[in-house]
Amino acid sequence: MRVLITGGAGFIGSHIADAHLARGDEVTVVDSLVAGRREFVGAAARFYQMDIRDPLLRDAFERTRPQLVSHHAAQVSVSVSVREPLLDAEINVLGTLRVAALAAEYGAERFIFASTGGALYGEPEQLPADEATPILPMSPYGCAKAAAEGYLGLYRRLHGLPICCLRYANVYGPRQDPHGEAGVVAIFARALLAGESPTIFGDGEQTRDFVHVDDVARANLMAADRRVEGAFNIGTGSGTSVNTIFRVLARKIGATVPPLYASPRSGDVSHIRLDAGAARRHLGWTPMVSLEDGLDATAAWFARKAG
Ligand SMILES: NC(=O)c1ccc[n+]([C@@H]2O[C@H](COP(=O)([O-])OP(=O)(O)OC[C@H]3O[C@@H](n4cnc5c(N)ncnc54)[C@H](O)[C@@H]3O)[C@@H](O)[C@H]2O)c1
Repeated sequence: MRVLITGGAGFIGSHIADAHLARGDEVTVVDSLVAGRREFVGAAARFYQMDIRDPLLRDAFERTRPQLVSHHAAQVSVSVSVREPLLDAEINVLGTLRVAALAAEYGAERFIFASTGGALYGEPEQLPADEATPILPMSPYGCAKAAAEGYLGLYRRLHGLPICCLRYANVYGPRQDPHGEAGVVAIFARALLAGESPTIFGDGEQTRDFVHVDDVARANLMAADRRVEGAFNIGTGSGTSVNTIFRVLARKIGATVPPLYASPRSGDVSHIRLDAGAARRHLGWTPMVSLEDGLDATAAWFARKAG
């Protein structure tokens, strides 16, 4: 399969690229490297350092003629989106439209979109939230992802481009950027290994659904193969507080520093966990990495990196 992955030098995208390469697919990565790393891109992949808003993106499609387009490039921070909603929309709405237009023009057979379950549903009355939960984002980031999903549905109806939106919960694991504003596991792991106190925004009792990146990469392969269309939550259904993540990581790393507490951030939701029953039924996907094992492996990866 010829696969073009935008954002494929980033955290999730590079794991997906590796999973495709491992089974012999032909992989092309497009990434501006604004957050991604060149060394995360496997040697067998073709690489274009390019912004998805660059008109030259057409060349990558022309040369690759991808059967599957996996769109993972994005402005990924909720707080940046609150500060700079126009920038967020330029990349996450208009950028997505450019990628979808080229996918349709070059006859892609599948389009997978990295959407969000964590930021799309706002503060749902019922948890875990399934895909029928009203879409009421609390941030420009969530709003842009919802708008992009809407446009992609239109591309399906207008141009017949088959779309699969994977609505990820809070993804964690090796290669996550520990210096970003999102990705509490990576941020905490790096700080604790450096003997620094990580900052917890709010009282730390907010809960999230933490899903390991290996499970997310597997969901992407299943979505690529099953040719199922629609929107699917990709999460565990369990909520874990930020304080618990801090305590478990501190124990695993052997750190004794206390966290610092700061005011809650605008745009962050209080409680979210996702019902992934539709992904189980239609993609055959269920999460396989337990939080305990996933945090172990992630802490070990950051420790190797620090050492
Ligand atoms: N990490 C999560 O918990 C999570 C949850 C829900 C959805 N997502 C979505 O998954 C996708 C991947 O996120 P991630 O966590 O791997 O973040 P990431 O920052 O590691 O990956 C994003 C990649 O996109 C690249 N990029 C950013 N803007 C670009 C642009 N304009 N042109 C080309 N490349 C650009 C970055 O360099 C980076 O490599 C994003 O679409 C994100 O919104 C992530």
